[in-house]
Formats: sequence, structure tokens, C-alpha cells
Amino acid sequence: MERKEFLRSLGAGAAFALMFPCAQGCSKDGELETFPVSNGVDFTIDLDSALAAPLANNGGYISVKSSQDLTYFDIVVARNLQGELIAASKICSHQGTEEIRFISEDGGVFHCTTHQSRFAQDGTSLNLNTTSNPLKIFSTELDGTILRVFE
Ligand code: FES
Repeated sequence: MERKEFLRSLGAGAAFALMFPCAQGCSKDGELETFPVSNGVDFTIDLDSALAAPLANNGGYISVKSSQDLTYFDIVVARNLQGELIAASKICSHQGTEEIRFISEDGGVFHCTTHQSRFAQDGTSLNLNTTSNPLKIFSTELDGTILRVFE
């Protein structure tokens, strides 16, 4: 499938912008166009864009704030240590702060800087702060350089 066809299939008519409060050197004023297809999380990122540059390296991540139908989603997109692209909520399941990061320790985990909770890449809690409350994980799908993040 050609890139344009893929984007069109995602509902290009309802495009909206993503902003990247990026933790690893992204520009503050960058925006990416995305294409929602439902009320849930569903957007694309062009990995060739400058804003996605941290995802070129294993262990790199970006923070994405997207809006859709007046609902806001804060999401961390990362390239894990095996080179796979993964995504999780930036909102910690412990007390709801927007402090989830991806760190390369322990094989690559999601980490909340507020109270130091850690989550496996499947969202499972790895310490006492959040034993009964996993981190929300999103699906990812790569088509060429276009990464789709969705529920
Ligand atoms: S809010 Fe994340 S560990 Fe407490």
C-alpha cells in the first residue's frame, strides 16, 4: 500500500495536530499531522520527520500529546532495546501524573519519575507503587516510515 493510500485509509479528512513536548532534543514548535479514525487513540507519526528522530535509536523515545474530539491523550512512543516500536500512556497508573518515560535499564522499562514506579513493556507493574494497576499500552503498526499508534 502506498503511503498516501494508507493515510487516506485512516481518515485524512479529520486531520489534527500532535505536539511533541519531547524529552530528547525535539524542537518545541514542531507539529505533526495525524489522522484519527475513531474516538480512541489512533494516529500516525512519520518516522522520517525531525520530531521523530529520537526513535531512530534503540532506547529512544518521544512524548506525544494529541487531541481528538476534545479528549487529550498523552502517550510515550519508544523504540525498545530490540528495535521494536512500542507505545504506552504517559499518564502513570499510580496517581495519574504525566511523568512516564522509557528508560534502557533492566532491558527497557517504562518509568514514572514521580514515585519511581516501573512498568514492563506489556504494562505490568514491576514494583510496589502500582502492583494492581498496569500501565495502559497501545498497539503499533509500521507501514514504511509511517508508524500507527492505536487502541
Ligand atoms: S504517580 Fe507515578 S509512581 Fe506515583
